[in-house]
Formats: sequence, C-alpha cells, structure tokens
Amino acid sequence: PRVIAVIPAAGVGSRMQADRPKQYLTIAGKTILEHTLDALLTHPSIHSVVLAVSPDDIYFSNLDIKENKRVDVVHGGKERADSVLNGIMHLQHDDWALVHDAARPCVSHKDITALLSLIGDNTVTGGILATPVRDTMKRAAISEDIPHQNQLNVISHTESRTNLWHALTPQLFPAQLLREALQKGLSDGVNITDEASAVEYAGYKVGMVNGSPANIKITHPADLPLAEFYLQQQLE
Ligand code: C5P
Repeated sequence: PRVIAVIPAAGVGSRMQADRPKQYLTIAGKTILEHTLDALLTHPSIHSVVLAVSPDDIYFSNLDIKENKRVDVVHGGKERADSVLNGIMHLQHDDWALVHDAARPCVSHKDITALLSLIGDNTVTGGILATPVRDTMKRAAISEDIPHQNQLNVISHTESRTNLWHALTPQLFPAQLLREALQKGLSDGVNITDEASAVEYAGYKVGMVNGSPANIKITHPADLPLAEFYLQQQLE
C-alpha cells in the first residue's frame, strides 16, 4: 500500500513564547517545518505528504515547499485531531497514514522504518513510536486554585513507572480506520491528544515501537539548541 505522511502544522505553539508559530522558527539554516518535511520526503517508503496549515497562516507562503508536487496543503482545524482529519480526507481508502508532528524535526529514518514494519503485523492495527519514561512520575494533588507557573504543587502520590511510555510520532494507521476513529472520538467528546488515543477508544489494539528519545517535540525555548544538536548528529 501507499504510505502518506500527514503533518498537522496548524498550531500556534504558545508555550514557545516566540513571535511566530514554532514550526516557522529557524534552526541550522532552515525552518523546523522544512527539516520535518525533509526527514519524511527523503524516506524511500513515503509516497507524499499532506500538510495541514492554519487558514490564518502568513508564513507558509514564503517557503519553497509550496512548489513541491509531493506536498498537498490543506487547512488545519480547531484541535490537532481536526487538522489530522482534514489531512486524512485527501488519502485513498487503502492508503496508510503516517501522522507526524511538524514540531518533531529530529525523527530518524531508522525509527520510521521500524514503525513501518507494523504494516505486515497481524497482531496489532498500526502503532506508534514511543519511549519508556525515565523520571519518577508524580501525580499532583487537586488544587482549588487555578495552577499557574511558580505555584507550589503538592504531591498526591507516586505513579508506578512500570510499563509507562511517552507517546511520540510518527503514528501509523490504515487511513480509513483512522478517519472513522477520529470522527467517533470527536463526536463522542473524547480528549484526543494523539491518533492512537482515538484508535484505542474505537477498540483496536495498537502497537508501540521503541523509538529514540532524540525525537523530541519542540515545545519550550530550551528545546531549540537541543534539536539543533540532534540534527547535526544525524548529518555526521
Ligand atoms: O501544541 P502541540 O505541540 O501539542 O501540537 C502538536 C502538533 O499539532 C503541532 O505540529 C501543531 O502545529 C499541530 N496542531 C494542528 N492543529 C491544531 C493544533 C495543533 O495542526 N489545531
């Protein structure tokens, strides 16, 4: 089957506190979005990319990507799941969707290839890259006040770290199944923060492939030099 990458890139990235959405910040001479697109378009098993950008976006049209015949552009939606759904609408029924955050430019071809091996695996319906949590996990006590930065939080209890993983992207599913799962999750009012959560909710078994922790989602300003370092390492 064809594997089409779907990239939601319609977020504003407010935690970055930058003058523009984080995918348009430059590291090592290119925007984060261009690094991400390069990583996917140069993988030999990826047919093409569908990119969801905000209808209010004023940065995308300045990039050369808009001339690329292997990149289709659609409008993003209110939530990430809406943006992904708009992208999936451009896929054919028997395609596989490989959904990947615009803000994860450091994904390696090795990890993408490992994830794609799930296409032939009958024990799961697609899957995700993930990495085991490394820190001890604390649950904060519910506070009556609205929590804000610098406020002291109090620990309710320590969560067991056994079998706890960070969900990364890419996340890989049959396109039609993912479309139906996202539509069901959205109409049932489920909090969908990644594709797998919708597919799990729809009752399918989702695989996890151990991926590199270098595949960070750029979120805070301190992530920028870290991403630059990981990208440099891949070139060597
Ligand atoms: O905000 P966060 O880092 O969780 O966003 C993950 C990805 O989803 C980003 O690439 C962002 O651009 C995208 N997104 C989107 N549409 C939204 C919200 C987020 O495409 N409405």
